Amino acid sequence: MKVVIIIPTYNEKGNIERLVQILEEEIFPQIKNHKMNILIADDNSPDGTEEVVRGLMKKWDNVDINVGEKRGLGAAYVRAMTYAIDEMGADVMFEMDADLSHDPKKIPAFLEKIDQGYDFVIGTRYSQGGSIPSNWGLSRKMFSVFGNLLVRTILLKFSIHDWTGGFRAIRKEVFLKEKAELTDFMGYTFQVSFLNKAVRDGFKVAEVPINFTDRTLGKSKIAAKEYIIDLLKYVITSSIKEKIFGPFGKFLVVGGIGFILQAVILRVLVEWFNINPSISNLLGAVVAIFSNYNLNNLWTFRTEQFKGFGQYLWKMLNFYATSAIGVIFIQTGIIFLGDNLIGRKYYFLYFIFGTGVLLIYNFTVYRFIIWRKKPHK
Ligand code: GDD
Ligand code: MN
Repeated sequence: MKVVIIIPTYNEKGNIERLVQILEEEIFPQIKNHKMNILIADDNSPDGTEEVVRGLMKKWDNVDINVGEKRGLGAAYVRAMTYAIDEMGADVMFEMDADLSHDPKKIPAFLEKIDQGYDFVIGTRYSQGGSIPSNWGLSRKMFSVFGNLLVRTILLKFSIHDWTGGFRAIRKEVFLKEKAELTDFMGYTFQVSFLNKAVRDGFKVAEVPINFTDRTLGKSKIAAKEYIIDLLKYVITSSIKEKIFGPFGKFLVVGGIGFILQAVILRVLVEWFNINPSISNLLGAVVAIFSNYNLNNLWTFRTEQFKGFGQYLWKMLNFYATSAIGVIFIQTGIIFLGDNLIGRKYYFLYFIFGTGVLLIYNFTVYRFIIWRKKPHK
């Protein structure tokens, strides 16, 4: 595969020279099964980083540069990843800092995970023996540790330990899938939002432990206060969006439509035709389930939509069976109990309570059995 190591730079003249040399002379010769390239993403650094890189390009023909306006770290990555795919034919792209904080010796470990079929490999400082620099001050340590804990807690995704780090290997398919959505958080928060979208879409993520070391040359570009505000804004808005407008929210809307259908049928049959409420409820359920199945398949669980008429019918059978169990034993069961133990007068209340319990059962079955997320490849 063609691998492009993307290195964003802003005033990294001294560092970039050392890093490119280490990559070319010590690391690339060890890697036999991939074609290794370097792309520097520079934002018109005033210190003359670009000129230094142009010099390196004369020495090594697998080094390239992509220059643009300074709009933040994320913007530089989006621009450079586009360039790496379109102009260099990249299959896999690395994110890597220029300041030697990321140990180039770890690159083969990332590629090993890619070879095993992972889509998004992240360097982790917070698990499996990874670490942050011991010489960092207490406030920088707290900032990093709590920043990551905060992201994991608000997103409710605990299996990934390092959300904010910038040492990663990513298959081009992941970037192409998410690119259109990567427009809002273009600073350091880009790292969290990109990874979060990849997780949401079921790409396979692996972690490689890294020992992050402090830079010796130049200065960090991170603006701690703006970063934490931006990060909070992202994790809060995205988790609200995910919980309310995500599958559960859509499931509730679809269920709401089914509920109205079923309720109208129930009332019409009981009040106009004087049919027994349990029977009326079952007839309403047959219609409501049909509506629920199709709307969920077309909208709620669109990403897991059934292909082919055979699978559509088979899953509909499953859906009717599991829904019937819920409707018979949970919803109708509650109506039956109320009707016989308390009295017919409140039948509509039993229906509402039974439906509430049914909702929880249904979402669980749909999400984890019928429209179960399949791995990406
Ligand atoms: N082109 C470009 N444009 N490059 C940038 C910009 C920008 O606006 N901002 C930063 N960079 C480059 C730097 O030149 C460096 O190569 C790399 O991005 C990382 O920047 P640092 O300034 O060294 O960041 P840090 O060491 O404080 O932050 C580390 O931790 C962050 C949070 O965990 C890095 O590992 C980040 O990648 C990580 O997101
Ligand atoms: Mn750094």
